[in-house]
Amino acid sequence: MNQQELESALATLNLSAIHYFDSVGSTNDEALDWARKGARDLSLVVADEQTMGRGRLDRPWFTPPRTALAFSLILRPTYAEKPLLSRTVGLAALAVADVLQTLGLDPLIKWPNDILLNGRKVAGILIEATWFEDEAQSIVIGVGINIAKGSVPSTDILGFPATSLEHILGYVPDRNVILHAALANIIALRPHMGTDSFMSAWQKKLAYYGRQVRVEMGGEKSVSGKVIGLESDGSLKLRDDDGKIIAVRFGDVRLRLFA
Ligand code: ATP
Ligand code: BTN
Repeated sequence: MNQQELESALATLNLSAIHYFDSVGSTNDEALDWARKGARDLSLVVADEQTMGRGRLDRPWFTPPRTALAFSLILRPTYAEKPLLSRTVGLAALAVADVLQTLGLDPLIKWPNDILLNGRKVAGILIEATWFEDEAQSIVIGVGINIAKGSVPSTDILGFPATSLEHILGYVPDRNVILHAALANIIALRPHMGTDSFMSAWQKKLAYYGRQVRVEMGGEKSVSGKVIGLESDGSLKLRDDDGKIIAVRFGDVRLRLFA
């Protein structure tokens, strides 16, 4: 992977600019910084290795060299997109899931931000924003995908089982091809974020749909119920044992199948 190779692999996408790093702390940090300095819509940061890759709530995300995909795409939301920004995680999740599906795989979205293959985490998404007062000026879509076996961290530091595309496919797919397809899907799906068909496509790919789950909410708090879908803002909808509907908002929440 290098700047020139990336530029030619992604040429047909008409991105505004690409910043490639052999090694960087976090592509999301670079993208947030670049956005604050005026990066245009569809500017892209890619790294071969991250030394401080982040998941939600600053949990570490491992991206060893040559084994994974780590990228962050900057969007400048239009006026029409601003009310839909809570759906961005769905946009990224569906885009990545669709790529895996074209490889013949059966991905599911572990709400809110992970992609599972055979019940194991193969990719994670981190959406962040730059703000002016209370308005988002830019959205950063950060995506990490485990490509080769070496990208999968050892089990003792994982809170949830992980896998890679190589584990499942039996070969290492071309990172540039996967990156191109994921970006093309994000770009193609973006105009449909406000539609009901977008929400039903997202809902259809939810892991644990119709199953009893437990949502751990920071500290000791948790709720449990059956997954029955998504609210229009992308919150997870559960029905508890008393029949009450609970909307779980994005935040400090972790989803687990009820044991
Ligand atoms: P969980 O994954 O336990 O449900 P979570 O969804 O809250 O928790 P995230 O914030 O989505 O976790 O992801 C960060 C976690 O992912 C880290 O705490 C680490 O356990 C795990 N992780 C880090 N790097 C990778 C990787 N390359 N592949 C899979 N999992 C990873
Ligand atoms: C998660 O599962 O919590 C999300 C992981 C997101 C990882 C990607 S890798 C590219 C981008 N840069 C980061 O530091 N994080 C995201």
